[in-house]
Amino acid sequence: MEFFLDTANIEEIKRINRLGLVDGVTTNPTIIAKENRDFEETIKEICNLVEGPVSAEVIGLTVDEMVTEARVIAEWAPNVVVKIPMTEAGLEAVNILSKEGIKTNVTLIFSVSQGLMAAKAGATYVSPFVGRVDDIGVDGLELIQNLKTVLVNYQLDAKIITASVRNIGHLEKAAIAGADIATIPGNLFPKLWSHPLTDNGIKQFLADWEKVPKKQEVR
Ligand code: G3P
Repeated sequence: MEFFLDTANIEEIKRINRLGLVDGVTTNPTIIAKENRDFEETIKEICNLVEGPVSAEVIGLTVDEMVTEARVIAEWAPNVVVKIPMTEAGLEAVNILSKEGIKTNVTLIFSVSQGLMAAKAGATYVSPFVGRVDDIGVDGLELIQNLKTVLVNYQLDAKIITASVRNIGHLEKAAIAGADIATIPGNLFPKLWSHPLTDNGIKQFLADWEKVPKKQEVR
């Protein structure tokens, strides 16, 4: 499974990048707004920090607006990916952009049919939002499982980015379902590598080590 970071916070990206665990980054207008700085500048800095794909979302809602924005964003860095919302206009824009070799990530996907449409339109990535599906009482992980089955059934190239990951369970179940990628909020990452039993085990090892006879230090 590839780990993308779902943040535009440079310090969060640097911290996780130091572990060698960042395979890419995803952003969206809400994530960009949190950083309170220029969009293009932020995306270019992230693209310089990580080698993998960095998703930057268009704001336009018409085909012409999306395609025009996407062509500009695509020039910002070789590893930038253009995020396009899952709408009719978005599908048409993806169809155009895919023929121009511009990589796209179709976002705000909440059903298998949306994911299938996006993949057929030529999306490089499709982003089903697990957390938001859970929020309405539907099983978000089932969406991941079913979408994975459909893409494999028809040998469609699009990769699934499990998005709107809110907890460890989302990540683990997405991995079990065979999702290609999970995009993980920066503040969730540390919870993924932490466990209270690990902490307790280290404390106990250190306490027991104190009981081991030590050679007198030669001064
Ligand atoms: O990648 C999409 C993600 O940022 C949305 O997360 O928690 O706002 O549903 P959330």
